Amino acid sequence: MCGIVGYIGEQQAAPILLDGLSKLEYRGYDSAGMAVYNGKEIDMVKSMGKLKVLEEMTHGGSTLPGFSGIGHTRWATHGSPTDVNAHPHYNKDSSIVVVHNGIIENYMKLRRKLEGKGYQFVSETDTEVLAHLLDYYYKGDPLDAISKVMYWVEGSYALGILFQDFPGEIYAVRKDSPLIAGQGKDGNFIASDVPAILKYTRDVYFIENQEIVKVTKDSLNFYNIDKEEVQKESSRIEWDISAAEKEGYEYFMLKEIYEQPKAVMDTLHPRLKDQDIVIEELGMTDEEILAVSKIYIVACGSAYHTGVTAKYVFEGLARIPVEVDLASEFRYRRPIFQPGTLVIIVSQSGETADSLAALREAKSCGVRTLGIVNVVGSSIAREADNVLYTWAGPEIAVATTKAYSTQLIAQYLLALKFAKVRNEIDDSQFQSMLYDLEKLPDQIEFLLGNKEKIQHFANRYLATEHVFFIGRGIDYAISLEGSLKLKEISYIHSEAYAAGELKHGTISLIEQDTLVVALVTQKELYKKTLSNMQEVRTRGAFVMAVTNAGNKEVEKSADYVIYLPETNPYFTNSLAVIPLQLFSYYVSLGKGLDVDKPRNLAKSVTVE
Ligand code: G6P
Repeated sequence: MCGIVGYIGEQQAAPILLDGLSKLEYRGYDSAGMAVYNGKEIDMVKSMGKLKVLEEMTHGGSTLPGFSGIGHTRWATHGSPTDVNAHPHYNKDSSIVVVHNGIIENYMKLRRKLEGKGYQFVSETDTEVLAHLLDYYYKGDPLDAISKVMYWVEGSYALGILFQDFPGEIYAVRKDSPLIAGQGKDGNFIASDVPAILKYTRDVYFIENQEIVKVTKDSLNFYNIDKEEVQKESSRIEWDISAAEKEGYEYFMLKEIYEQPKAVMDTLHPRLKDQDIVIEELGMTDEEILAVSKIYIVACGSAYHTGVTAKYVFEGLARIPVEVDLASEFRYRRPIFQPGTLVIIVSQSGETADSLAALREAKSCGVRTLGIVNVVGSSIAREADNVLYTWAGPEIAVATTKAYSTQLIAQYLLALKFAKVRNEIDDSQFQSMLYDLEKLPDQIEFLLGNKEKIQHFANRYLATEHVFFIGRGIDYAISLEGSLKLKEISYIHSEAYAAGELKHGTISLIEQDTLVVALVTQKELYKKTLSNMQEVRTRGAFVMAVTNAGNKEVEKSADYVIYLPETNPYFTNSLAVIPLQLFSYYVSLGKGLDVDKPRNLAKSVTVE
């Protein structure tokens, strides 16, 4: 994810900015930049690529002299990773400079409005809108301009801002993106994350939503959106740098599990407009959506599992036949494409060799392709006819969690959009599903609140050798992911089985105390799965069930039950996967394994 550092004080700013940004490198980025006030005006250097490039371009910061500045590492969301799209961004006469983390959801509307007033844009970013909007409202009072911009802007942001007219000040503001201010000995700081400034200070202020901070070399003042000063207490950071990188979480995986409400919100929100789903980047007219006769969803690993869920959602809602394929199989099986086929490639990295090959295979047959990708500008994103980005931010743990959750959201949005355009659902059903989608981030947050209970349960299974996950329909798709999560990070053998298939094989493996995790979220299949649970229980299995709140019936067939908040049956995967991720995490942690880097696995598999 993007990183922000700002410094104002008695030292040269640029070397401190470079050092601070280097502490954020672990988060992933594709370009970097800095702006420093040189005593007369604001100088800026930015470039795509690693921080090393910026260091070389500025000779370690020495070609950007000055005592105040802001720096940024960018993880591309709007616009590919290029020099021009890198931050900072200027207003028209370079007197206001902005760095930004987050996503401005209404940037297209604001951009059109500003273009109508004669503003010229040079980048494809949402951030540039902020530089021009600040320019538009700036009449000599930075605080006033910032608060006016806050009223107009929708979405999430943490901003660092320099005004040439106020060389002794740095401004920063946030909404739904983290931001801190730090009090140093001979200067003060802003940063998106603690590690960036930990070397210089441990006394930080956590900026609240819609708070503005004005930083000078010897003061920090805080304001609300109405420009009223607010008093804040500083906190003393006691973590070391490696804990700080993980924001106090023991492993990146847990941090990323906890980032899911935000990742889901970021992927969902910008596409919900005026009680409708608007996916501009889809590039398909209603006629083209109506003409879709078949969908292939092609992916690897967990991304493939999201496709298995999406098959049920597309077929159930939009009534379009879907085939889900493992990319490694699809690329060699010479699928028979009919007119109106759409191939959707799902990939976090956008670089998985088999998924990329599958995309090329489909393209070579003249089939329309759509990428659902997390990394902007990656190979799949570049080569697919259209790309729908998931905005999960960079994932560091090898076992995916937040990217998986956002891939589900992207596919729900598509399926719902297709269903509406094709008249397969009426408006009240559509609206009620939008309502359920919007509730998901809070419901995920709620489930995360149960972590102690799941940890306690997981600790009982550290020595177990086999675990079986069972479910029907979408519950089978969830089982696939639950099982993969467990085996990849805990090294416990686990299998996902369609519950109805149990008696054709797996049931012979059930022994006294074998753990069976039963997914029971699909109302019309409750009874069927309950009888499968009974079957394994009578053979000695210990059954843990994951089901919807209120389904007390399940308690007769399970030994341990986790209840999920109520949502539409098509969306239950987004909730059910949370306790399963936590379960795997705590088993791995309890066994003392390296949760983030399981043996033999890679985050991005770029070989066949
Ligand atoms: C690897 C990762 C998985 C991921 C799969 C597909 O196996 O460990 O977490 O699901 O690759 O990766 P992609 O980047 O294409 O989603």
